[in-house]
Amino acid sequence: MNMKMMNASTPSVPGGDNVKVEFEDGIAWVKLNRPTKRNAMDLNMSTEMNNVLDSLELDDRCGVVVLTGEGEAFSAGMDLQGFFRATDVMSDVERLRAQRENRNWQWRKLMWYGKPTIAMVNGWCFGGAFTPLICCDLAYADQDAVFGLSEVNWGIIPGGVVPKALSTLVNHREALYYMMTGEKFDGREAERIGIINKAFPKEELVAKTRALARNLLGKNPLVLRATKISYKHILEMSWEGAAEYLSAKGDQTTAADPESGRAQGMKQFLDDKTYKPGLGNYERK
Ligand code: COA
Repeated sequence: MNMKMMNASTPSVPGGDNVKVEFEDGIAWVKLNRPTKRNAMDLNMSTEMNNVLDSLELDDRCGVVVLTGEGEAFSAGMDLQGFFRATDVMSDVERLRAQRENRNWQWRKLMWYGKPTIAMVNGWCFGGAFTPLICCDLAYADQDAVFGLSEVNWGIIPGGVVPKALSTLVNHREALYYMMTGEKFDGREAERIGIINKAFPKEELVAKTRALARNLLGKNPLVLRATKISYKHILEMSWEGAAEYLSAKGDQTTAADPESGRAQGMKQFLDDKTYKPGLGNYERK
């Protein structure tokens, strides 16, 4: 594999002490990197993640982001020391800014990101970690990864935007069950309730995630972006509004597409008879 690491002759690699980025043929593997703290998310990590996501959005080495964790955790959630205790002693305004720093990457940036995103849950995934997990477009997990909405177990309500994020994917019975009991569950159960797309044995997880990323890299990027962004917008629209918006968004996408995908697809199927859209991509020129 072509792993590009930082050296004097290549462009710098974003990240720092708390977030590690590796490029591999169009895939940016973004690793939360505090393995000794089970990748608990503190303010330094949030600042780095905001910078990393901003930078990767404009970096041609990145066509797809895979968000995962170094070591045995995806993330053990918000850092009880480096976020909760740290913000307890802050002024109201400092606290507001700290919350904004977290929400920016965990929710807003990932939710509306300009490139496809895949969460790869490699291990422990608790509390606040559900927000970036759910706000990524797609998610795979180790079938034995351990998930939990453990907030109730230590005397707080699930906060940030965790319940809001959860409510977009999981039915209310499942959401309330896991939030009210704090019971842990594995990757198979995460798949059953719809938090992830699929769970795999640990030894297959990276290869399956890489294959999914490669599939996305083969698509027309502008159409892929418009597909995911428009889906996320219509979730909160009326049927009438969604129909109008999708019609306009479709026209806008076709007009703005530098590779004229719609015209190419139609020509190759209807005139040239060189491919079948139901079975794969048109040949991108
Ligand atoms: N915040 C701060 N520190 C955390 C943390 C968190 N969310 N999760 C783990 N850590 C720290 C531990 O305090 C420990 O630090 P230390 O070595 O300085 O003592 C280190 O990470 C390793 O954790 P440990 O509990 O020893 O690892 P483990 O593999 O036995 O257990 C977990 C892993 C994830 C089950 C356990 O750490 C845990 O329950 N963490 C809290 C999860 C949680 O409720 N998160 C929700 C926050 S909203």
